[in-house]
Amino acid sequence: MGRLDGKVALLTGGASGLGKATGDLMAAEGATVVLSDIQEVEGENVAAAIREAGGACSFKPHDTTVEAQWERICADIMEEHGHLDILLNGAGIGGSGVELIEMELDTWKRCLSINLDGVFLGCKHGIRAMLQGTGGSIINISSILGFAGIANSSNYCASKGGVRLLSKAAALECARKTPRVRVNSIHPGFIDTPMVAGAIQRRGPEFREYIENNVPFGELGEPLDIAEGVVYLASDAAKFVTGSELTIDGGFLAR
Ligand SMILES: NC(=O)c1ccc[n+]([C@@H]2O[C@H](COP(=O)([O-])OP(=O)(O)OC[C@H]3O[C@@H](n4cnc5c(N)ncnc54)[C@H](O)[C@@H]3O)[C@@H](O)[C@H]2O)c1
Repeated sequence: MGRLDGKVALLTGGASGLGKATGDLMAAEGATVVLSDIQEVEGENVAAAIREAGGACSFKPHDTTVEAQWERICADIMEEHGHLDILLNGAGIGGSGVELIEMELDTWKRCLSINLDGVFLGCKHGIRAMLQGTGGSIINISSILGFAGIANSSNYCASKGGVRLLSKAAALECARKTPRVRVNSIHPGFIDTPMVAGAIQRRGPEFREYIENNVPFGELGEPLDIAEGVVYLASDAAKFVTGSELTIDGGFLAR
C-alpha cells in the first residue's frame, strides 16, 4: 500500500530540483503523477525515468504564468484521469542578487509573476478542478524567506511572503466547501538543487559560508527532505491539516 494510492497529482516545476524529487517519491507512493515545466526535454526525461522505475508518470509543457495554460492542463487532466487530487505549486525562480535600490522594475515583476502570480493561478484552477472530483490537497512551495528577509533578494522575499498568506486565505475559503480542499505551504531552507547551486556560483563562496554559518545543521538539505513533507501534506494522514506552514530548514528559523 502506497501513501498516495489512487491519487492523481500535478507537480509544477517537475523537471528539476524539489519538483523532480517529489515526482519520484509520489510515484513510488502509488500516485499517478503529471509533471509540468517550461523545460520540456528535462521534463520528458524525468517522466521517462519514473516510468522505467515502474511509476505512472507523464509530462506536459506548461508555463505557470499563463492562465490559458492552466485552463488547458487542468482540462486535460480531468479528461485523461477523471480527477485531480494533489497540486504541488513548485515552479519558481531565485532572487536577483541585486540591491533593492538598483533593481529594475522588470526584474521585480518577473520574480513576482512566476513565484506569486503562478501560484495564485494554480490555486484558482487547481481548486476548481478538485471541486469537480472528491476534493484534494494543494501544497504551495514558499521558503524560509517567506518569514525572514535576506539582503539583495527583496523580490524573492516578497513573492514567498505572498505565497505564505495566499495559502492561508485559500485554505479558509475552501474549509467549508464540499468536497474539501486543503491548502498548505512548505518553507524549505537551503536545499541542494540547481537553483541554490546557481546562487552559490553567482554570489561566490561567501554565500556558501553564509549558509554554513547560519543553518544550525551547518549543511544544505536534500530535495528528498522536502518531498517527504509534500507527500505527508498530500496524503490522507494530513486530512485535518489546512492553512499550516511546514518548515523544513535544518533549524534556520528556530534561531
Ligand atoms: N532550493 C532551495 O533551497 C529552495 C529553498 C526555498 C524555496 N525553494 C523553492 O522551491 C521551488 C523549487 O525550486 P528548486 O530549488 O527545485 O529549483 P529548480 O530551479 O531546480 O526548479 C525550479 C523549476 O521551476 C521551473 N520553472 C521556472 N519558471 C517556470 C514557469 N514560469 N512555468 C513552469 N515552470 C517554471 C524551472 O524550469 C525548474 O525546472 C521554487 O519555488 C523555489 O523558490 C527552493
